[in-house]
Amino acid sequence: MADRVLIFDTTLRDGEQSPGVSYNVADKLEIATQLEKLNVDYLEAGFPASSPGDLAAVAAIARQIRGCAIVGLARANKKDIDACWEAVQHAAHPRIHVFLSSSDIHMLHQLHKDREEVLEMARSMVAYAKKFTDDIEFSPMDATRSERAYVYRMLKECIDAGATTVNIPDTVGYAIPSEFHEFIRGVQANVPNIDRATISVHCHNDLGLSTANSLAAVRAGARQIECTINGVGERGGNAALEEVVMAMRTRSDFFAIDSRIKTREIYRTSRLVSDLSGMTVQPNKAIVGANAFRHQSGIHQDGILKMRETYEIMDAKEIGWPSGGAEMVLGKLSGRHGFKARLEQLGYDLNEEELGMAFLAFKELADKKTEIDDRDLEALVADKLRTNQEVYHLDHVQVTAGDHITPTATVRLIAPDGTILQDAALGSGPVDAVCKAINRIIQVDSRLTEFSVKSVTEGIDAQGEVTIRVEKDGHTYVGRGADTDILVASARAYMNAINRLLSASQPAADTQVRRNP
Ligand code: KIV
Ligand code: ZN
Repeated sequence: MADRVLIFDTTLRDGEQSPGVSYNVADKLEIATQLEKLNVDYLEAGFPASSPGDLAAVAAIARQIRGCAIVGLARANKKDIDACWEAVQHAAHPRIHVFLSSSDIHMLHQLHKDREEVLEMARSMVAYAKKFTDDIEFSPMDATRSERAYVYRMLKECIDAGATTVNIPDTVGYAIPSEFHEFIRGVQANVPNIDRATISVHCHNDLGLSTANSLAAVRAGARQIECTINGVGERGGNAALEEVVMAMRTRSDFFAIDSRIKTREIYRTSRLVSDLSGMTVQPNKAIVGANAFRHQSGIHQDGILKMRETYEIMDAKEIGWPSGGAEMVLGKLSGRHGFKARLEQLGYDLNEEELGMAFLAFKELADKKTEIDDRDLEALVADKLRTNQEVYHLDHVQVTAGDHITPTATVRLIAPDGTILQDAALGSGPVDAVCKAINRIIQVDSRLTEFSVKSVTEGIDAQGEVTIRVEKDGHTYVGRGADTDILVASARAYMNAINRLLSASQPAADTQVRRNP
């Protein structure tokens, strides 16, 4: 049995199945690069047969990321497996992950096949995938609602056909930890060739038990956990990587087994995924939530000041929290040197031009806000870096609003060829007016499906961070923007979403632009 638990990250595959999440290739590469730094063992980059875009993104990741194995998902049919191989073949270590339902409810109502037919499909498609590469994973989907004896038979057949990892998915988050533990023990006892494969688990969080189930499985002998950053994923999400990893690390006395994850990269990875997916992390989220290392009660604060371990079981530094959880504050008088040093401590590696832009934005912010902490810096740098991928640049926005006036916005954009484009619009509210003014210039036929604003820090002078989702032709594009003025933040977020839409759909030159006389 392996002496460590392999971490199989599926943020870019199952995580992308979260409603409203959709990454472009640049986002996927950025997240994949960060997952490589985090030292995951397997990175499930996508489902290549699902769309040509996904195939291209998985292929790009397979070419670029060399520090971990790259996995593609495939249904149990030749077309999916061919597409999957086309995408992952470039990887230093490729894996094909074949899945097929094993529960009666799925076989009867979805596949319309009987058990023997499904068994034969699983066996023959694993054998087919094996022609491409040695590393094959097989998942009996909805395993926890399947008849166990049937799952055991399926796993045996698939291992005989060449599967080197067999994954037990709790697809609908139905399992209970002690029951799941027993199931894994059952796999070990009843699949006669199980010594030729690694047992993996893939737990969903419908009952909030995904972390507990994954860990119960490790106790029973599973040696791969499938998980996602921040627990993003279909419905209630997947087991959160940071939770399973930190549980094994913190309670090594209990688990006596660990992963190879570089935990100091956890915080950055969490922020990056939250930023690019537009899925904010709830403040009380374990390990990575804003309150995870904050202490409110006087008794706790007193204890922490005397000895951190009185009320903390983990050291925030080990998770990569800036300043180990305690915030450091910059202000108006801070110089470029101190600013740069702080960004480096936060893990940013900006080039001179990016640093110049960020410093300018910092100085502007410092004029409006007395204390600038790490959360402000992160929002500010993320905001500036987003402009790297721009098609149209938001140069200026001005809004008039009030309780006895029709909200009016004037915006000025800079087109890819440097032309200045300006227009104004009325709206039902100020944000609506801003979006309409932008739409009058860039005539993209999209629909705004979500708008949310949250404060980056506390206090009346806090920056507002706006997340916007727009939809076009069934695709969702997420945009974010931050500023002390939430209307400016909204304009930036909307431009960010529209720029992403434009980059994904067509070259900027082809978009219909109405120029002012
Ligand atoms: O939840 C699930 O069953 C899956 C499989 C494809 C492994 O995501
Ligand atoms: Zn899943």
